[in-house]
Amino acid sequence: MSNFVFYGCDTVELAKKYGTPLYVMSEDFIVDRCREIRKDFLEKYDNTMAVYASKAFLTKEMARIIKREGLGMDVVSGGELYTAMEVGFPMDMIVFHGNNKSPDEIEMAVKNNVGRFVVDNIRELDLIEDIAGKYDKRVNILFRVCPGVDAHTHKYIQTGQVDSKFGIPLNENIMHKAVKKAMSCKHLDLKGFHFHIGSQLHENEGYIMAVKKMAELMKELKDDIGFITKELNTGGGYGIHYKDDENRKNLAFYTDAIMNTLEEECNKHGLQKPFVIIEPGRWIVGEAGITLYTIGAIKEIPGVRTYVSIDGGMGDNPRPSLYQAKYEGIIANKADEKLTNTVTVAGKCCESGDILIWDLEVPEIKPGDILAVLATGAYNYSMASNYNRNPRPAVVMISKGMDRLIVKRETYEDMLRNEI
Ligand code: LLP
Repeated sequence: MSNFVFYGCDTVELAKKYGTPLYVMSEDFIVDRCREIRKDFLEKYDNTMAVYASKAFLTKEMARIIKREGLGMDVVSGGELYTAMEVGFPMDMIVFHGNNKSPDEIEMAVKNNVGRFVVDNIRELDLIEDIAGKYDKRVNILFRVCPGVDAHTHKYIQTGQVDSKFGIPLNENIMHKAVKKAMSCKHLDLKGFHFHIGSQLHENEGYIMAVKKMAELMKELKDDIGFITKELNTGGGYGIHYKDDENRKNLAFYTDAIMNTLEEECNKHGLQKPFVIIEPGRWIVGEAGITLYTIGAIKEIPGVRTYVSIDGGMGDNPRPSLYQAKYEGIIANKADEKLTNTVTVAGKCCESGDILIWDLEVPEIKPGDILAVLATGAYNYSMASNYNRNPRPAVVMISKGMDRLIVKRETYEDMLRNEI
């Protein structure tokens, strides 16, 4: 009987040592992804920057790894910014996103000299101008543009279509007015534009279309109001491997398409090539993570299905219930046994919809077996909740066969800490 080994660590031993449910993250995988970014994007193309979209997975240790690997960081809240500040992350490498940043969040970012704000709307422009004025600072901004591109992914993680809550519409009246206004702001330096068309994308056509639209915008703004675009942030969204029908592409599949299109379009329109930023999140951490669970109750409904319940579920991984996301799993303590049954993996929350995997092939299983769910590194820990008052799992980082705890398991006291 052999156990499932993940990046040099025996997952059954990890489950014994730290308990379940347990998030396990491979530092080696994360570092490999960062180095692929360095080699195939940063070193291949001049005048570029890569920032990690920290909403995918953020802890202080993760911020330290990203800092050490020399990438920047995309934050979307005061909390993400605070985490970066706590590890001394270089503030000029931070890109601050969000469609409704609060005055307090803006003040925190201005005070701490965040590198760039991605401004989503005109109200935000006014707020930043006021706050930057109060501190007598000049702040770099990009406008988030909604490029009107329908990316092929789940509706809830599309962001670039015309009907989206994000960004300024690519409409001449609105956009030109916004740019003129920003140019007249004493405390703002409008560097250029940002787009993010969606997440978990396996095609590059959406990026090509969006870059073409942005180049047209850059040309129009140059001709009509003399605005020169110095920076273009092309967002994230690169897809990863969850199931066999979704094979991960190399980074270059996306970034070469972006950079080649930009080069062609700039030549065509007689534009200077801007500084380019990319913002992958999921692609860096998604496959770095697994979640370990202990199997409990097994309910067989003859001729219908067998439900196998685990000690976690939608509280630690809301993605199947939110986006019908599909995951692969392995019975970690029976990794080499023949798969003889098909079961449905149910979470322990009080919801019929709390199903992690509908059809999983497994060997003979019994309560106490350990289930490893794969590719849970992105948008699991970061989206976890205390629903049903289940404490959030611990997070263990593994590297070169060694393991270290980076987030303690929540306790009942932790959950009640702020209650009066
Ligand atoms: N940049 C911006 C402005 C974004 O909004 C996002 C993701 C990213 C970069 C990174 O995208 P990624 O490379 O990770 O696809 N919770 C959903 C995903 C939401 C993504 C939101 N924005 C999920 O679990 O699939």
